[in-house]
Amino acid sequence: MNPEAQVLYEEMKVSLGKLVPDFELYYKSEIAVEINQLKKERNAVILGHNYMEPVLFHSIPDFKGDSLDLSRKAASTDKDVIVFCGVKFMAETAKILNPSKTVLMPAEKAGCSLAESITAEDVRALKRKYPGVPVVTYVNTYADVKAESDICCTSGNAIAVVESLKTDTVIFLPDQYLASNVARETGKHIIFPSIGGALDPLLDVQMIGWHGKCEVHDKFTVEDIRSVREQFPDVIVLTHPECPPEVVAESDYSGSTNAMIKFVQDSQAPHYLVLTECSMGDNIAAANPEKDLLRLCMVRCPHMNMITMENVRDSLLHNRTVIDVPEEIRVRAFQAVDRMIKIG
Ligand code: 13P
Ligand code: SF4
Repeated sequence: MNPEAQVLYEEMKVSLGKLVPDFELYYKSEIAVEINQLKKERNAVILGHNYMEPVLFHSIPDFKGDSLDLSRKAASTDKDVIVFCGVKFMAETAKILNPSKTVLMPAEKAGCSLAESITAEDVRALKRKYPGVPVVTYVNTYADVKAESDICCTSGNAIAVVESLKTDTVIFLPDQYLASNVARETGKHIIFPSIGGALDPLLDVQMIGWHGKCEVHDKFTVEDIRSVREQFPDVIVLTHPECPPEVVAESDYSGSTNAMIKFVQDSQAPHYLVLTECSMGDNIAAANPEKDLLRLCMVRCPHMNMITMENVRDSLLHNRTVIDVPEEIRVRAFQAVDRMIKIG
């Protein structure tokens, strides 16, 4: 084995030895060394979302984090190439923020059910229906949808973004559950015209939502939480705000992927149930070996799961897949993303 790969393998054996089969650590350590060499040759930075599988997550990203964090890193990097280990809307956001860089996405088809749920024309139709009402768009959307929006948000700042607008009514797209969870936190009444529901003239504090859902977080139920609580009465349950509102209400804490990681790090409880994409449970378990991470691990994001060590290596080797956003759309989308970044 290459000596550099041997060092990496030994390190990962300590942190991931209980989670990942030995042959996988061994095999992927060699690919990680190839990737790290290519990264230097191409003056590239690798950004890795918290949902990356454990070996990739622990071996090649220069920066790891949630969507908000990685957007900031993409905006400020001085490297020539950004390799985004995440899904298409994330790679597009990097290009929107830092257009002079080559942005590479290792798995061309890694999409997102939320981003697929709404088109730019859908947003224009809502704007015609509710003229003058500001449009907040979740960052889990494509560039042309962002371009129709006043401001973007992520799960880490959605409440702050809505409150920053200081208007009674906002259009909040496209995640039905995130919108409902934000409405509850901000005291707004929410309606969903796309699935029936008209503005109630008697209510002056409102949100107008859309019917998009995350296909991963939609799978978690209140029964899941109750059955785990029966077996482990002292379990702390964490949910991502893309979970259905009744699931979030049943949990002890809800926050972005970064916020959930920090919560477990800073808490002393023995058992945690983290209701989000499975690999993140593994990554938290690796960082907190003294804590017991309970799993409902049938729920992997099929899109995030497309990013592999092999296709990251090939993306740098063959310069693929290059993400481009037409300049006319990029400039308008930039306004919405940049406003969000400035809020924090
Ligand atoms: P975060 O912004 O919390 O990292 O979430 C992104 C995402 O796609 C969750 O499913
Ligand atoms: Fe999209 Fe859900 Fe996958 Fe996140 S977990 S990328 S919201 S499908």
